[in-house]
Amino acid sequence: MEKLIIEGGKPLYGEVKISGAKNAALPLMAATLLAPGRHFLRNMPNLRDTRTFVRLMENFGVKSERTGDVLMLDTTHLDHTEAPYDLVKTMRASVLVLGPLMARFGRAKVSLPGGCAIGARPINFHIMGLERLGVTCTLEGGYVDARIDGPLRGNVIYFDVPSVTGTENLLMAAVLAEGTTVLKNAAREPEIGNLIDMLNGMGARIEGKDTDRLTIHGVKNLIPADCSIIPDRIETGTYLIAIAATGGTGTVTNCNPAHLPSLLEKLRAVGLIITETETTIAVGWPERADKRRVIGNVDIKTMPYPGYPTDLQAQFMALMTLSSDTCVINETIFENRFMHVAELHRMGARIRVDGHFAVVTGGGIDGMKGAPVMATDLRASSSLVIAGLAASGRTEISRIYHLERGYEDLVDKLTGLGAKVWKEQE
Ligand code: EPU
Repeated sequence: MEKLIIEGGKPLYGEVKISGAKNAALPLMAATLLAPGRHFLRNMPNLRDTRTFVRLMENFGVKSERTGDVLMLDTTHLDHTEAPYDLVKTMRASVLVLGPLMARFGRAKVSLPGGCAIGARPINFHIMGLERLGVTCTLEGGYVDARIDGPLRGNVIYFDVPSVTGTENLLMAAVLAEGTTVLKNAAREPEIGNLIDMLNGMGARIEGKDTDRLTIHGVKNLIPADCSIIPDRIETGTYLIAIAATGGTGTVTNCNPAHLPSLLEKLRAVGLIITETETTIAVGWPERADKRRVIGNVDIKTMPYPGYPTDLQAQFMALMTLSSDTCVINETIFENRFMHVAELHRMGARIRVDGHFAVVTGGGIDGMKGAPVMATDLRASSSLVIAGLAASGRTEISRIYHLERGYEDLVDKLTGLGAKVWKEQE
């Protein structure tokens, strides 16, 4: 196993280019199952999760070919509709194949994902929604066995809580259904907009993009897709916070600032100067006569989009540990998303957790010291990277396979910003 070594305390400077979004790439790959033929997905990030998803697709008989950042998926001949436990347990997003397989074949068997490092993460909304469309779902041997004779039938589906992959799964199920489906209290994340654009490009009829009410008029068939994956807003936010935490100045390119409304406001509130164009965000600290950097106190509450994203909670906590004040995080999306706290403690952070709340008593910009720490999930790991870059001394992060799930070329991108960071065998 590899670990990541960081010699911290060096401000990051320069430019970093953002890759395609992991959480858009996965549903877009699943959507190719809806129409037989050769699909082209552009700006495809090369990540552990996207490679796992390709393996899952190959398991159904899909042929794949990657040329640069273009992934071709040929879904002409599929001979299998089962997503096995081995693949689903390593990547919960595998459940995204349930909707499209049902729409095309009326039959799918997908392993239940089980819990994960950030919470219980049930899929009851996905199953309830499919049942509303006429599907019979039975649970057997840890698998959801879903069946319907004939096409799915449009209906009204209400989400108790907006669910990102739940909305995506039901969109994909409904596009080939008979009649009209309405998704109420649907999630509005930009990755869902990307999926809607792809599906409409394939011939689907979906109205209400970027709203919480999606209307899907079923069509008889779809044609193969050629579309581009949006920039990764979580990767964008991670680099912005990393540059900010090290006291550097930099520009994140190939991104979409419109997808990060809450983070950019929070960074401004901390005291940073943020300058946006349509595809870039520059971040830096104002000049002060005493040359000191003061990280102001800001609180965050994670919410469905356009609220503050839970996937950027851990990274912002690393910045809060350098504040000269007390900051509060209210994590409302996942019940167990503070695994990084114990690791940040090892670096000198003072954080108290009580249920959904974390109270961070900042130690000032020199408050953190490098230490050996362990990555526990994808976003928790990136919080440790930010803390390691900002801390004085050496940080060693073990179990970095978590980071490789979602950050393309992390070491090269950080090195390009002037960081001293490298991988070593444990
Ligand atoms: N929920 C249910 N039942 C369901 C589905 C969700 O109770 O059937 C609850 C969840 O437990 C949670 C809330 O609804 O409390 C929202 O969860 P959601 O379904 O939106 O999460 P998800 O679709 O499983 C996606 C991202 C996550 C991201 C969340 C929240 C993908 C592949 N994953 O997960 O990304 O944290 O939305 O924004 O899109 C990551 O990239 O590190 C990551 C975990």
